[in-house]
Amino acid sequence: MEVKQQVAVITGGARGIGRATALELARQGARVVINYATSRKEAERLVAEIKAQGGEAVEHQANVASLEEAYGLVERALELFGTVDILVNNAGITRDNLLLRMKEEEWDQVIEVNLKGVFNCTKACLRPMLKQRRGRIINISSVIGLAGNAAQANYAAAKAGIIGFTKAMARELAARGITVNAVAPGFIATDMTASLPAEIQEEYRRRIPLGRPGTPADVARVVAFLASPAADYITGEVIRVDGGLAI
Ligand code: NAI
Repeated sequence: MEVKQQVAVITGGARGIGRATALELARQGARVVINYATSRKEAERLVAEIKAQGGEAVEHQANVASLEEAYGLVERALELFGTVDILVNNAGITRDNLLLRMKEEEWDQVIEVNLKGVFNCTKACLRPMLKQRRGRIINISSVIGLAGNAAQANYAAAKAGIIGFTKAMARELAARGITVNAVAPGFIATDMTASLPAEIQEEYRRRIPLGRPGTPADVARVVAFLASPAADYITGEVIRVDGGLAI
């Protein structure tokens, strides 16, 4: 089924990769629900931008770490648009620290948002997707979930967990017409990476075979591909979008 007219829910959609994904899916004609946790202004601005381009969009505040709020997000999509066809589990945070110094709450917060958030939003979307026997779930993992990284044990564990979850759900939902895939971005120029020390950003740049950081649009195009009919026969897959970083 063409992306056009489909209903897409994008978590953490007000900024960075989520924002680019919302714009790309809307450009292809999807009706998008942009979830945000705290970035209300950015979310409202994005909705206005999509509407100005002739698209349909709405913003909805919810903390993906709460199952109740995840249900509220999907409920909003159902009320407004009648269904959910595409779920992009994009919301994510970092709380980097060497394990010796990592506080219990830094571990817990990253697992709660990055991994449990994926469980919560997927669970909330299942009923409408099962009912219509069609759906696309696209989870944003990371190359850190494939290769690990010092000072990111919490983030690597959550992002590797997303890959296991993706494969389990792909098996569980295949017979019901729902595909589940993951995208593993490398070093993408967003607020998340802008907060890294300059020397770490430089080190990443040196290590990327394609010689530049990724853009949010680089990732968004792959998400849109996985949501499109071109990816009808792909499920349980993890696609790196990293300029070769994790080769
Ligand atoms: P970002 O920090 O610009 O955007 C993350 C978004 O998630 C923000 O809008 C934030 O408000 C939202 N968010 C955070 N906690 C939330 C919660 N509890 N409930 C709902 N929304 C919440 O980061 P970026 O770079 O756009 O990241 C998007 C995804 O891509 C994340 O899952 C991140 O881990 C992943 N990623 C990013 C990479 C990069 O280099 N920027 C590389 C690999 C993966």
